[in-house]
Amino acid sequence: MQETGLIHDIVHTGVPGLDELLNGGVPRGTTIILEGNPGTGKTTLGIQFLLEGARQYGESGIYITFEELPEQIYRDMSGFGWDLRELERQNKLRIICLEPDVLLDQMMRTDGLFEQLIREIDCKRVVIDSISLFRTLAGLGNDGREQIYSIRNIMRKFDLTAFFLREYGETEGRSTPFENYVCDGIIRLSLREHLEKYRKRTVEILKMRGTCIVEGEHHYRFMKDGICILPALSMVEDKILSDGVERLSTGIESLDELLIGGLPQGSAFMLDSNSKANYKYLMNSILAERLKRGDCVLFMLSGLSSVETIDQTLELFGASLKEAAAEERVFFIDHYHRKVEPEYEKLVIYVDRLSNEEYQKKVYEAINPHFRETMVQGRRWFIHYDLNTIISERGREFVKRNFADEMARCRAAGVTVLCQTNFTEIGLETSSFLERASNGVIRTWVDGSYQYLQITKSPGGRMSAPHIVDNIRDRPYVRLI
Ligand SMILES: Nc1ncnc2c1ncn2[C@@H]1O[C@H](COP(=O)(O)OP(=O)(O)OP(=O)(O)O)[C@@H](O)[C@H]1O
Ligand SMILES: [Mg+2]
Repeated sequence: MQETGLIHDIVHTGVPGLDELLNGGVPRGTTIILEGNPGTGKTTLGIQFLLEGARQYGESGIYITFEELPEQIYRDMSGFGWDLRELERQNKLRIICLEPDVLLDQMMRTDGLFEQLIREIDCKRVVIDSISLFRTLAGLGNDGREQIYSIRNIMRKFDLTAFFLREYGETEGRSTPFENYVCDGIIRLSLREHLEKYRKRTVEILKMRGTCIVEGEHHYRFMKDGICILPALSMVEDKILSDGVERLSTGIESLDELLIGGLPQGSAFMLDSNSKANYKYLMNSILAERLKRGDCVLFMLSGLSSVETIDQTLELFGASLKEAAAEERVFFIDHYHRKVEPEYEKLVIYVDRLSNEEYQKKVYEAINPHFRETMVQGRRWFIHYDLNTIISERGREFVKRNFADEMARCRAAGVTVLCQTNFTEIGLETSSFLERASNGVIRTWVDGSYQYLQITKSPGGRMSAPHIVDNIRDRPYVRLI
């Protein structure tokens, strides 16, 4: 009989972000409870643990379910692009559906079905979905200590690293269930109300024997290819500071602090705000700062912002648009064909009544010569990208087809982009795509009588706490508290 795996033998879960929270992974041979309300992603995370084990670490796994048929799981998980049948063909995975008492019976027998299966595929990882159903179906009520204890011991015996999924909440009352004591670790997934209209998905590690963990709640997201955990602020060291990338000040000291110096040059950031939130101070402070520092700026005009209004607003922030225009360092994309003062005339790219193809061509041809010239002079470029305007004028499909590509090209050229957007309005699907294609997200929203701001994504995976946006009398008119 093997003892529990040595502490230094760590099993990497392979789930993005999770291993960081676990100081590398979970000790081999341990049994972890993965608990959460229905729909929080237990099945997804469980499958991901097995899938990444097979794909990244050459470790085979078994998924045991009591209710859902394998067909259902194949289908649900194919949404993440996971071909589980193929893994089964390669003997890297087995998904089995059986009755709890059959499972127990087969587990307890020497050379029973379970043991045979373990040997057959050289299994290292196991997921049981779920321990709550196991109890219910086995008619164990709230008890079943003996049985659960036995299963855990079997896992240890075969040095299997196991996730026991558990429905958490409503029905269980206040007492801590038995399995939470006997298992080596507890990971909890939650979906909670967050301020007014927002909900947040968070993961918390409540216990993990044999490894030091990062405490606190960390956000997680469903991505196209599975769950991704974003470790919270406190744990990420300032490694980004030493990455050599220049930081562009936003003109707001407290925001610069959250961004560890400012926006990284060559990055694409989202400024996401709901309609009530005043993003203009933030945006204009950033744009004014770029002009004051001598950068070239490409403005995408919206229906509400014209060259004239930008001129006036930036003046409030101590930047002169006219001066920059005289030096040919500002350009404007206008979808609405508005007249401008003569000094701006040759700097506006009119794109109304153009097809998407013509639009791209026109912008490219107008900007490219300037871009080349100014890069030689060592000038930086900054783009104010108004996603709301692009989506309404060019369509969602255009954004989906081109955005990631455009951002990649900007990044490669060292051009910094700030995209103004309203994730709630443009819908979950497009916004999560946009979020993925960008390096960082600054989110601001109004709730009750306060405006909040939070960095929800940044290049190092760092998130900030929500801050209150406080208005002040003098420039830059806002500060974060
Ligand atoms: N790309 C996605 N974006 C947001 N949510 C998603 C995405 N893909 C799946 N989901 C949500 O994840 C949930 C399914 O996850 P999963 O089946 O892993 O949860 P679960 O905790 O096992 O649920 P249950 O308790 O019902 O078994 C669904 O509620 C679904 O709406
Ligand atoms: Mg499930």
